[in-house]
Amino acid sequence: MRSRLLEALPDATVVVRAPGRVNLIGEHTDYNGFPVLPMAIDRSIWIAAVPRAAPTLMVRSIAPEEYAAESIPLDTIASRSPRGTWVDYVVAAARRRPPEEGLELVVAGTVPAEAGLSSSSALVVAAFLALGEVGDRAALAEEARLAERYVGTLSGGMDQAIALLGLPGHALRIDFRPVRATPVPMPPHIAVVVAHSGVRAAKSGSAREAYNARVHECLAAARHLGVAEHGLLADVEPGRRAAVCELDDAVLRRRARYVFAEARRVEEAVQALRSGNLPVLGELLNASHRGLRDDYEVSHPAVDILVKRALAAGAAGARVVGAGFGGCMVAVCERDRAAELRAALGPSSWVFSPAAGAERTRA
Ligand code: GLA
Repeated sequence: MRSRLLEALPDATVVVRAPGRVNLIGEHTDYNGFPVLPMAIDRSIWIAAVPRAAPTLMVRSIAPEEYAAESIPLDTIASRSPRGTWVDYVVAAARRRPPEEGLELVVAGTVPAEAGLSSSSALVVAAFLALGEVGDRAALAEEARLAERYVGTLSGGMDQAIALLGLPGHALRIDFRPVRATPVPMPPHIAVVVAHSGVRAAKSGSAREAYNARVHECLAAARHLGVAEHGLLADVEPGRRAAVCELDDAVLRRRARYVFAEARRVEEAVQALRSGNLPVLGELLNASHRGLRDDYEVSHPAVDILVKRALAAGAAGARVVGAGFGGCMVAVCERDRAAELRAALGPSSWVFSPAAGAERTRA
């Protein structure tokens, strides 16, 4: 990809790369203050950058028929409203790291878009790195999370953190407030298989509304459970979490019940990975899927079908991955069964290994 970018921008001075991710477990826990367990994947957003004399931020893609170019005068970046295009994600970063001089960026990517594999946060992180140095990765992850709010999603920070902190051979337990990562080695006998349902899970339109609605419901549930303003479900005293079953509102009850259960599953999944216990890990993914489907209501019938197909083909566990509302499922299986699983899941399926986080290099 680097050479394709340099063909498209021969005088580039900097090339950056930020990976997408697969979350093993801990879905919709991050914005509730609970940990997640993702891994970065070997699919990235790439950007080549070069300073220009004209006082504009020129953003173009190597696939212009799909992703239209935009040229943004530098003095309009701060006041620019989101336009609902892919360039909004670059602007999100540029508002926090305003370029001091004109800049041309050429973007390329191998993360499947609108699949729940975090191509948009990878784009935000890559844009940050195209506009400046990496610095403290955990601090930048928090910065990128706040920046992405510009686009309208109240996301929780997992995607930006794993894009920056990813480690080959490891999943990461990521805790928040502040961002902290604990590497958990991925046992070599466990394969992570991902398949796309074909249903686009865009971080815009109705999926964004539905995502943000979950965030607000969880905040409301936290209030009902006695947490002060701005507190999260993670701030509910462990001893008070059982009171979730007394919440009057059935929707809030289901949402909070799912989040508390999922938070426990993250702890158990870390143990299962550390001891290489695939059956236990698989069961945790299955329980997560049931919760996401029935209590959190973020799965999609097309994803449920893939989950069933993966289990029938020998997966130890499978579930909808990412925000949901379509997109991908993730399954875990014995490595020597991965090819069989992929055959059952079709051409839009992949075996992913944990990959390195973002990098910025001289061209
Ligand atoms: C999206 C958000 C993340 C996280 C997941 C669900 O990817 O960007 O912060 O909330 O959904 O786990």
